[in-house]
Amino acid sequence: MEIPDDLIDALTCANFVAALTGAGVSAESGIKTFRDPDGLWAKFNPMELASIDGFLSNPQRVWDWYQYRREVINNAKPNPGHYALAEMEKLFPQFTLITQNVDRLHQKAGSKKVIELHGNIIENHCFQCKRPFEGETALPDGEIPKCPSCGGLIRPSVVWFGELLPFDALTEAEQSATECNVFFSIGTSAEVYPAANLPLIAKRSGALVVEVNPNYTALTPYVDFKISETSAVALPAIVEEVKRKKGLL
Ligand code: APR
Repeated sequence: MEIPDDLIDALTCANFVAALTGAGVSAESGIKTFRDPDGLWAKFNPMELASIDGFLSNPQRVWDWYQYRREVINNAKPNPGHYALAEMEKLFPQFTLITQNVDRLHQKAGSKKVIELHGNIIENHCFQCKRPFEGETALPDGEIPKCPSCGGLIRPSVVWFGELLPFDALTEAEQSATECNVFFSIGTSAEVYPAANLPLIAKRSGALVVEVNPNYTALTPYVDFKISETSAVALPAIVEEVKRKKGLL
C-alpha cells in the first residue's frame, strides 16, 4: 500500500512519536469493536454492562459478560498491527503507546511500555475496598468471587462509564501528546473523552496527526494524514518504509 512520502520523511526525522489505539487495532485479532455495525454496543447496552450503575443494579449480569469477554480475549492473538507498534518502540528515539484497549494484546506482541487509559480486563479488584484480587475467578455456577479482606464483590479492573481514568496514565498520555512530533490515532472512533482529546492536544501543540482507520471519524477533518486502511496492513507498511528510509533494511 502507498504511504505518503512526506509522512515517511516526518517520521524518519521525528524524535518523539506517540500513538493512541482503540478497539480497531484488535479487530483483526477477532475481538469485536464497540461502535462498528457488528460491534458490542450494537448487541449489548453499555450502560447496563460497562458502568458502575449497571454493576450495582445487576452485578451477576456484568460479571458474566466480562467472563464471556475474557474467554474471547484469552484466545485472541496479536495481529501484525500490534507487532508493528511493538517495533516502533525501537524505531524512534522516543515512542509512547497509549491504548484504550483492555485486552493486553500490545503487551503480548512485545510492547514494553503501554499506557492503559481504560484499565485492563485481565486483572480484578474489590468493588468495596479496591484491593487487588488474585484469587480464583471461575467459581462453580459462575458465582461472583468475594473479597477475602472485606467480603465485597470482585469486579474487573476496567474503567467503566462514569468512572475517572487513572490519573497518572492520563497525565502521562497528555504529556506525550503535548511533546510528540507525530501523533497516531489508530483504530478508534475518537468519540470517547478524555482519550479523544489527545490527538487534538497533539495538534494544538504542533504535532503532525495521522489517522489509521478504514472509516471516517470525528477526528478525520483535523488530521494531517488519513490512512484509510486497516491497522494490520497500514502499520507494518509504515514501519517498513521508515526502516528503509533510515537504512535499516
Ligand atoms: N483497523 C483500523 N481501524 C479499524 C479496524 C481495523 N481493522 N476495524 C475497525 N476499525 C475502526 C472503526 O472504523 C472505528 O472507527 O476502529 C474504530 C473502533 O471504534 P470503537 O468501536 O468506538 O472503539 P474505540 O474507539 O476503541 O472506543 C473507545 O469506548 O466503549 C468504550 O471503553 C470503550 O475503550 C472503548 C472506548
